[in-house]
Amino acid sequence: MDKKLLSINSHKKPNHIAIIMDGNGRWAKKKGMQRVFGHRNALKAIRESADTASDLGIEYLTLYAFSTENWNRPKLEVEALMNLLIINLQKELPEFIRKNVKVNAIGNTENLPKRAQKVLNNVIEKTKNNTKITLTFALSYGSREEIVNAIRNISKKVVNNEIEIEKIDNNIINNHLYTFNLPDVDLMIRTSGEQRISNFLLWQMAYAEFYFTDLLWPDFRKEHLYDAILDYQNRERRFGKTSEQIETNE
Ligand code: FPP
Repeated sequence: MDKKLLSINSHKKPNHIAIIMDGNGRWAKKKGMQRVFGHRNALKAIRESADTASDLGIEYLTLYAFSTENWNRPKLEVEALMNLLIINLQKELPEFIRKNVKVNAIGNTENLPKRAQKVLNNVIEKTKNNTKITLTFALSYGSREEIVNAIRNISKKVVNNEIEIEKIDNNIINNHLYTFNLPDVDLMIRTSGEQRISNFLLWQMAYAEFYFTDLLWPDFRKEHLYDAILDYQNRERRFGKTSEQIETNE
């Protein structure tokens, strides 16, 4: 059996992993190819990460597939990404069902092309009762936009006397985010050597551990996810407490 896999402590697993899949364009360029070649080769890394996370018993995996800012990329690249999304969601549906994967999406998905929305909604509907892992795609996602929307919706409820101002707390805010049905992120991984959050899950990563690797996303494989989890397991998560309090479980 894999040595790294054996070193993973099954009692200290992250419950929710979020990944900023970065470096597809650079990966393709290094091979003298167009950026889209990198996106096509990203799919194996997506599949392998989801399978590995699921095999490890991780309950939530969230992938940053398309940000609100990505709409500003060249039209042809945006079209290619949307086509990849449509084709692959459709193609993977039987596998999602077979592997008991629940597919979820966060973001302003109403901005996606109609065909992408249709395929996405169908995959979400057909997998909604699955229980092994929740695989969330962040699509047309921006964390600040998400927070602005939450504030608007909460404010409307205040005006309509559905919520009292004094009752606004973490829970109420959580419940108005796209991620209302997801737990906080425990581990955030970003590939390609960049060390930024890039408007991803700002609220949800308040206590997340960050793991950065120079690998470009299309090269990301099972053993690299093990590395990130092993690194996470060596950190001490204190949530503002002292080491002594954590040791004595105070
Ligand atoms: C980051 O690399 C990658 C993306 C912004 C897109 C990832 C999305 C897909 C592969 C398609 C979605 C498909 C499914 C099934 C979810 P980059 O282009 O930013 O790379 P660079 O930083 O090297 O330019």
